[in-house]
Amino acid sequence: MIRQEIEELRGRALAAVAQAGSAAELESVRVQYFGKKGELTAVLKQMGGLSAEERPVIGALANEVRGEIEAALESASARVADAEMTARLEAERIDVTLPGTALQTGRRHPMQIVLDDVIKIFLGMGFSVAEGPEVETTYYVFDALNTGPDHPARDPQDTFYFDDETILRTQTSSVQIRVMEKQKPPIRVISPGRTYRKDEIDATHSAHFHQIEGLAVDRGITMGDLKGTLNTMMQGLYGSDVKLRFRPHHFPYTEPSAEVDLQCFACHGKGCPMCKYEGWIEMLGSGMVHPAVLERCGIDSSIYSGFAFGVGIERLTLMRYKINDMRLLYENDVRFLRQF
Ligand code: DAH
Repeated sequence: MIRQEIEELRGRALAAVAQAGSAAELESVRVQYFGKKGELTAVLKQMGGLSAEERPVIGALANEVRGEIEAALESASARVADAEMTARLEAERIDVTLPGTALQTGRRHPMQIVLDDVIKIFLGMGFSVAEGPEVETTYYVFDALNTGPDHPARDPQDTFYFDDETILRTQTSSVQIRVMEKQKPPIRVISPGRTYRKDEIDATHSAHFHQIEGLAVDRGITMGDLKGTLNTMMQGLYGSDVKLRFRPHHFPYTEPSAEVDLQCFACHGKGCPMCKYEGWIEMLGSGMVHPAVLERCGIDSSIYSGFAFGVGIERLTLMRYKINDMRLLYENDVRFLRQF
C-alpha cells in the first residue's frame, strides 16, 4: 500500500519537474514534495507504523525516490537557468548595426587655444608659468609698480574696490612683484590670468578680460632681449612674416617703456579697415623693469636688469582669427565656438 503510494508519488514528482519552466516553478515542486508539509515528508512520517520487515525495504525505496527527484530537480534547474538566460539575451538583444548616439564632446575656447600656444612658445624659451590672485591689494597692483596714490589708474571710476586697499586687479603686472618677492634672478616667467576694469562693454571693451604678463630678470638683460622674445612670440602665433614696431611710451614701472604694434597682416602696412587705415595694430605694453621696482623687491639693480610686458589675450585671439567683436568671445554661443 505504502509502496504504491511512493511509486505513484515518484511518477507525479518527476513529471512536475519535467514540466517546470522556471526556477520559481521548480522551487514550488521542491516544496510540494520535500517541504515540511511535503508529500514525501508525509509518507516518511508513516514509517513508524510499519512492521520490522517492511521498514528497511520501504525506507530504501523512499531514499531512492528522494535521490531520484533531487537529481531531477538539479538537472532541471540547470536547464531552466539556460532557458532563462537565452530568453533574456533574446529580449535584451542590441542591434549593433543601428546608428549610435553621437557623443557631444567639448572643445577648447579660442582664447584657450591662443593661451596654450603662447605658453608653449614661452616654455620653449625657458620661461615657466606663475599665478597670482585676482583679488589683490593696491600695493601689488599699484604702489609696488611705482604707481603712487595720486595716479589716475587708481581712480575708483576705473577700478573695482572692495575697500581702500583691496581691489580686483586691473592688470597682471601685480604678479611681477609677487614673483620677484619670492624668487631671485635669473627669473623668466609668464603669468596669464583674469583682470578687471570698470569699462562699459562694447566691441573692444569688457569689465572682465584676460592678460598675459611676462617678466625676465637676469644679469645683462637688454631691450634687445625684449624685442627678440616678443618677435618669437608673435611669429609663433601669426607666422614668420609678421613685423613688430616698438613705439616709445610711458609706464610707471618700466624705463624705457614701449608700446608694441603688429604690422597689419591684412594689408601689410598699407592701411585697410582691419587696422583702421593705420597699417599697424597696437598689441601690448612693455619695457625695461624700472630700477625702483627691482629694488623694492630686494633685487640689486646695479647687478640685474629685466624686461616686462603685458598683453591682452582677447586682442591676441581677435587678431589670430580675424574676429571683429570681442563680445563673441564671452557669449558662449556654440555656433561660434564650434568653428575653432
Ligand atoms: N600693465 C599694462 C596694461 O595693463 C601692460 C604692461 C605694460 C605690462 C608694460 C608690463 C609692462 O609688464 O612692462 O596695459
